[in-house]
Amino acid sequence: MPPACRASLATERLPRTGIGPEAALADVFSRVAPYAMQCGHPRFWAWVQGCGFPLAALGDLVAACLNAHLAGFDHAPAVVEQTTLGWLGQLMGFPPDASGVFCSSGSMANLLGLVVARHHLKPARPVLYASAEIHGWAPKALNVLGLPSAALRLIPVKDDFTLDTQALRAAIRTDRDNGQTPFCIIGTAGTVNTGAIDPLDELAAIAAEQQLWFHVDGAFGALARLHPDLAPLLSGMEKAGSLAFDLHKWGSMPFACATLLVRDSAAHHAAFASNPTYMASETRGPLAGGVPFASRGIDLSRGFDSLKVWIALRAFGVDHFASIIRRNVEDSRRFAAAVQAHPDFELLAPAPLNIVCFRYTRPDTDLDAFNRELLLRLQESGIALISSTVIGGRFALRLANVNHRSSPADFSLLLETLARLAGQQTGDWPPHPAVDARARLHSFQSDCPD
Ligand SMILES: Cc1ncc(COP(=O)(O)O)c(C=O)c1O
Repeated sequence: MPPACRASLATERLPRTGIGPEAALADVFSRVAPYAMQCGHPRFWAWVQGCGFPLAALGDLVAACLNAHLAGFDHAPAVVEQTTLGWLGQLMGFPPDASGVFCSSGSMANLLGLVVARHHLKPARPVLYASAEIHGWAPKALNVLGLPSAALRLIPVKDDFTLDTQALRAAIRTDRDNGQTPFCIIGTAGTVNTGAIDPLDELAAIAAEQQLWFHVDGAFGALARLHPDLAPLLSGMEKAGSLAFDLHKWGSMPFACATLLVRDSAAHHAAFASNPTYMASETRGPLAGGVPFASRGIDLSRGFDSLKVWIALRAFGVDHFASIIRRNVEDSRRFAAAVQAHPDFELLAPAPLNIVCFRYTRPDTDLDAFNRELLLRLQESGIALISSTVIGGRFALRLANVNHRSSPADFSLLLETLARLAGQQTGDWPPHPAVDARARLHSFQSDCPD
């Protein structure tokens, strides 16, 4: 973002009188859109941010134009929302009478899942379990639930970054011996760092045997179930008491579009239902059937988030999205193999799904600092956007691929560019002409097939 643009946006005065719709919209296209993060670019692979689907964006526009209120009510949008939830439940292997709700984010969907679990089991001295690789939504959720952070037992992971079930069993035993009340096991279907999939079948069995709630955070990974080749990786997920996943990640939907499914619909309803006099359910009129979606989460006023999903699925079919996911996994595995084959890079973790963690290894200097600088140079080049994490204490470059616009050439260009930028950093290789980042960003639209 040019400094002048940033300054003009940041210091914009409260408009007492308007400049008119044309000028206001023109400003969006000249000052905001060109400097948004461009997650629609074919070489955007950062932070598991979905890349957006134009038809689904149109769905959002239509939803906004209808401005339908989705607390429930007896109108067609509520039927569409329920039908779409039913489709998602079916795709995830949940029973037809399972409950569900659309919500703003995976963090929210996971939080709501834990609220249902705790409300249902009412543990006296609650403790719950997840792998040490769990995403940062969990400590926030504990805070909201009024639980101390120590109530979440972080179970060590094995070499492949999946939860060690022996350690889990031992932790549950110790907690019971100490008078704690274990109530929930959280399995992750695709960890944020590496895409590792916890042994979900085994976790489901332990939860059943110990009479604990089994919640699965499938923020992005759950969507791999859409493709029959990948579904076996997630075996056991369908046994969860609750499952959270984001269609705004691997479902290509625009933000915000996350889902919580709950196997026991009565437990779901009991956790959130309220019956205010001003919204009492009727047998006729708009309140016929009440406000079921408001009774499955926190929000009363809710937008028509399912419309974009409904439109996209009807227009292209599930198989289209499944094939994107399959291709993303194939491309990521190929990229991981290219990293492994490259003399100057190394993989820092297995890449079972669509996340690849790696680093440049050539210099003898501080590799963490070197790779951090390499990442920033890549980001500033405008050629590709990836992000980073820390794996086993080592700074890692991290590619998270949910991009339906990337071609194999894009991945080759990423590795070539990293090698070139790293060479410039070490001074080994002749410097390349500077890349005009803004020109790259402005031109990306012509790169995009849709
Ligand atoms: C495994 C996992 N869980 C939860 C989340 C949080 O989802 P959201 O960003 O939609 O809140 C993420 C985000 O990347 C994630 O990767």
